[in-house]
Amino acid sequence: MIRSRKFSLPPFARSLSARLLVLTIAFVMLAEILIYAPSIANFRHNWLKDQADSAHLAILALEAAPEELVSEDLKAQLLSRVGAYAVVLKRPDRRLLLYTAPPPPVDVTVNLRDWSLLGDIGETFATMLRSGDPTMRLISPAEPDADLDVEVMFNEARLRTDMIAHSRNILLLSIAISLITGTLLYFALQWLMVRPMRRMTEDITRFSRDPKDLSRGVDETSRSDEIGVAQSVLAEMQRDLRSALRQQEHLAALGSAVSKINHDLRGILSTAVLLSDRLSGVDNPEVKRVAAPLIQAIDRAIALCTQTLTYARDEGPELSRSRFRLSGLVDEVAAELAVLEADADTAPCSGPKVENRIADDVIVEADRDQVYRVFSNLGRNAFEAGARRVTVEAVETLDPGMHIDVMDDGPGLATAAREGLFKPFKGSARKGGTGLGLVIARDVMQAHGGDLALVRSGDDGTVFRLTFAEVD
Ligand SMILES: Nc1ncnc2c1ncn2[C@@H]1O[C@H](COP(=O)(O)OP(=O)(O)OP(=O)(O)O)[C@@H](O)[C@H]1O
Ligand SMILES: [Mg+2]
Repeated sequence: MIRSRKFSLPPFARSLSARLLVLTIAFVMLAEILIYAPSIANFRHNWLKDQADSAHLAILALEAAPEELVSEDLKAQLLSRVGAYAVVLKRPDRRLLLYTAPPPPVDVTVNLRDWSLLGDIGETFATMLRSGDPTMRLISPAEPDADLDVEVMFNEARLRTDMIAHSRNILLLSIAISLITGTLLYFALQWLMVRPMRRMTEDITRFSRDPKDLSRGVDETSRSDEIGVAQSVLAEMQRDLRSALRQQEHLAALGSAVSKINHDLRGILSTAVLLSDRLSGVDNPEVKRVAAPLIQAIDRAIALCTQTLTYARDEGPELSRSRFRLSGLVDEVAAELAVLEADADTAPCSGPKVENRIADDVIVEADRDQVYRVFSNLGRNAFEAGARRVTVEAVETLDPGMHIDVMDDGPGLATAAREGLFKPFKGSARKGGTGLGLVIARDVMQAHGGDLALVRSGDDGTVFRLTFAEVD
């Protein structure tokens, strides 16, 4: 089910690409802010060097004049080209001065000989923040004659205006770069990720509406990237789910059929009980000997039918717990299995054997009939597979609870049985087997809070381990 959203943004704003567009713009702007400080400081440094160079050129014109005399008009023109109040060139022997009127008092002095990146950045921001028309005195090496100093006095506001114009250009450029990058990224993502993801989401939604409809759902893809892998995995999950649903339908149909059969079987068995009750009244030792186990067997069959009906109603087995000696129960199972094998046509004379190594004082609190079914299923499986001996014994492990191993000397689990182990209808490797015995046995153990697991299986036999939860 798709959850409703609290904030209803327009679909575009909610999309992944739109978020990425905004993030790209933000990140490019952030990057520009980080590089802005050194960039504007560099701009100011170059500006000042240019200023010093053109001042140097202007004063060289003065030096070139005969006797260094130029008209006031030319001086004014030279100074206006440079944009300075005054220029001084300090030669070792004398000072050359270019000015028309005394300059205003100096507010800031900058010496290009004392250059450092951090100091430069600091002075750059100071320039930006100063207002009015402060007079700057700039001292710079008079290139190419670096021993000489050229000094220029000028209005710092000119520098500030150029710096602001440069900053504005950087800002506009940043916005343009982030918009172009963001938009390209938006379309690339839209094409590479968002569209396939959206298609996949729609496919999944359609599939969830009607999983059985084969025309709906996620299609296989030839893409090999992460989205392709996700699509393939989804398509596989969808296939598995469909087959699980089909199987569930079959199981449900089978369950209802079994319920009906069980119901009628219970009726038939009740009649058998009545008849066998009469048998126990017959005064014949041989009949009396057979009657008791027969009645017990029929009672167990009725109980089994009842339990199956309960299972079919999906309520799980109802446990009627009691405390009993486990060893006694194993003996009973051994007797039942010995009788069955002895009756079988193929059984050899010496019959298979259950060796009970459970100590007499081992008490279990559980549903006795259900636990009986577990041991009976395990023993029966072993003998049906060809084992001659089944040994039941308690083992110590680090895990909590009581552990009982059921070991046999049979040929081990067949591949089909191993692959479908504990899967209903799948684990049988025996002709005529339903593949439910182990599933039921494990269900019973788990309903008691314990478990049934395969410990090992090979040519020399198989070991299943039953775990009984500890009871306080
Ligand atoms: N002790 C064992 N040794 C060898 N194979 C075993 C053993 N226990 C189980 N198997 C194999 O596992 C399969 C599954 O057993 P399971 O009891 O679940 O079903 P089944 O015996 O085939 O049918 P049913 O539901 O009638 O018991 C068996 O068919 C058998 O091949
Ligand atoms: Mg079985």
